[in-house]
Amino acid sequence: MPVKSLLTSNEKTLLNRAVEAELYASNFYRHLANQCQRLGYFGAQKYFQAEAGHEVEHYQALASFINDRGDVATVPTIEAPEDEITSLRDAIEAAFDTELQLERDYSDWYRRCDSEVTRQFLLQFLEIQRKAVGEFGDLIARLDRAGDDPCGLLLIDKELGE
Ligand SMILES: [Fe+2]
Repeated sequence: MPVKSLLTSNEKTLLNRAVEAELYASNFYRHLANQCQRLGYFGAQKYFQAEAGHEVEHYQALASFINDRGDVATVPTIEAPEDEITSLRDAIEAAFDTELQLERDYSDWYRRCDSEVTRQFLLQFLEIQRKAVGEFGDLIARLDRAGDDPCGLLLIDKELGE
């Protein structure tokens, strides 16, 4: 039986923004996967395809939470990703920027929530973002080591596919 929503309208707005951000991130990783495939980085292609799947899981966690609180997630129109990707570094840096922005957004949404229950739920996303930012930061450090060496870049690509 449907219950009256336990979310404030402010929280519902914030959570629906998170829903949209996770769906955008999923599409963005599909975009990066396609661009990497075109560049011949098949390990990175596989890696970003898997990332796209993780973002859908994050979306689903949000939709299920909204449902648990007696409400329903809005499935929004998602803006098309258009970032130009001409190198493996472009792809990794774009991923880093996306995750860092999401970390900032989740911090903001966490602070602006009205209830402890919603804040407690959002804590897991702060941890997810911290780990994602750290992971892509490490990859940028690896790219710095490889420089313009094609063999080094292909080695990193191979590792990404494993
Ligand atoms: Fe995510």
